[in-house]
Amino acid sequence: MLPRINLTATQAYKYLSNHYIDIAPKHLKELFEEDKDRFEKFSIAFDNLLFDYSKNRIDDTTKALLLQLARECKLDEAINALFSGEAINETEGRAVLHTALRHQGPNPVLVDGKDVMPEVRAVLANMRRFSENVISGAWKGHTDKPITDVVNIGIGGSDLGPVMVTEALRPFKNHLNIHFVSNVDGTHIAEALKRVNPETTLFLIASKTFTTQETMANAHTARQWLLESGAAESDVAKHFVALSTNAKAVADFGIDTENMFEFWDWVGGRYSLWSAIGLSIVLSIGYENFDQLLQGANAADDHFHHTPFEENIPVIMALLGIWYNNFFDSETQAILPYDQYLHRFAAYFQQGDMESNGKYVDRTGAPVDYQTGPIIWGEPGTNGQHAFYQLIHQGTKLIPCDFIAPAQSHNPIGEHHTLLLSNFFAQTEALMNGKEEDEVVAELKASGKSDEEISRLKTFKVFEGNRPSNSFLIKKITPYTLGSLIALYEHKIFVQGIIWNIFSFDQWGVELGKQLAGKILPELRNNEPVSTHDASTNGLINRYKAWR
Ligand code: F6P
Repeated sequence: MLPRINLTATQAYKYLSNHYIDIAPKHLKELFEEDKDRFEKFSIAFDNLLFDYSKNRIDDTTKALLLQLARECKLDEAINALFSGEAINETEGRAVLHTALRHQGPNPVLVDGKDVMPEVRAVLANMRRFSENVISGAWKGHTDKPITDVVNIGIGGSDLGPVMVTEALRPFKNHLNIHFVSNVDGTHIAEALKRVNPETTLFLIASKTFTTQETMANAHTARQWLLESGAAESDVAKHFVALSTNAKAVADFGIDTENMFEFWDWVGGRYSLWSAIGLSIVLSIGYENFDQLLQGANAADDHFHHTPFEENIPVIMALLGIWYNNFFDSETQAILPYDQYLHRFAAYFQQGDMESNGKYVDRTGAPVDYQTGPIIWGEPGTNGQHAFYQLIHQGTKLIPCDFIAPAQSHNPIGEHHTLLLSNFFAQTEALMNGKEEDEVVAELKASGKSDEEISRLKTFKVFEGNRPSNSFLIKKITPYTLGSLIALYEHKIFVQGIIWNIFSFDQWGVELGKQLAGKILPELRNNEPVSTHDASTNGLINRYKAWR
């Protein structure tokens, strides 16, 4: 069982509340001036990844107190419970073992006393065999042509991870075209089907439960489309495979369970890209590269499991997030990759983080009296700079930012990467230092402005600075380094959930909308006016019926 500790009742929390009063007025520039070793002290190298957290509003005391908070909240016990396969997803009575999916070496991983590694490896071996057949062209469609296009149909964790990783690892791609359909809006599947040929298309129906409305609707439409193109029922097996934990529902849909890649209820949907749900990744970049992704994640798991908290990247990331969320009252966290290939990274962790830690009830069942999970958002740099960075630099909200960049580009064209990286470095520096009035005045003078103009303009051009950021500099984005980076973020979410005393691995909050949609659906199937809802919902439904 996970500990039940209210962080606000800890000694560390009280000390941190007092310490916050000292730190809050301090400028980051001052902190750098006071401590020449700040970068060495507040950065961690791990494999080909450098995590610099020195541009945060912390000093040695802050770090020591945050670590004390982690200890008082019994983080060590929780980490052991995670890795040892305890049923820490208590509201669903399940273990949380996405780490087993990338586990390396001979040691067993036990769930209810049973080693799950033989099954994990058997499914990986199947994924390998199958993907090699499809990639080589040995697997044929119903008219004996090799597969050219793969359409992954899934949503949430059965979509976002594969989309993010296949995009991030495009430089490692083979000839197969990979498409993703998630939205129940018919536009999504209609547009995907326009781009593919039924004779040469393979559909992966990716759904942990195999009951998700969106995925089932899209899967039925895809099957219908295949049949309408002239294929027979018996041809479906050549064009449809399932990635699921639910063999019965897969069989009921009409997919031969021979063509099912299994995973288990101890894999959370938003942590499932490492499982059979990753088959689209394997088909896109080949099994060897997928294996590298798993190995990179495993290296990050080992780092998280065994490194003292002082030097433990996910622990430090999590504690910094808590420092801003619970003491500075910042509400959001931006993730800003300076790598176009990582353009879905923030979207992926929107689900990863917000579905995990968007909870207001603590592990004792009582409502919390403090803030929990932040709003996660972000877009790649430099695009974001020309969109929303204004608010990060001069707005009224404190937005801690994670900047991520590779030192080496997969596309070293002219000066592009140097230009990109000059922006990456410049942004964190500008956020930290800001620009003082003296500097603004000198610049305006140099540009020939009159004293009157200068006094009118200067306040608008001052930047307070003191805006915190983390920087991840990665040698190169490869399957291995990407695997590590994702796993570090996953563990950050876990640590925060432990300290906030919430359950991070259920998602009851998405159920209500699903239930209500189920109730409304039959009402939309006729033209009778509705009066069973509140006035707003009735009004909207009735206008929809009039207009459709
Ligand atoms: O949105 C809720 C959710 O249950 C997510 O947690 C999950 O990733 C997604 O739906 C898809 O679920 P499934 O893989 O069972 O179709």
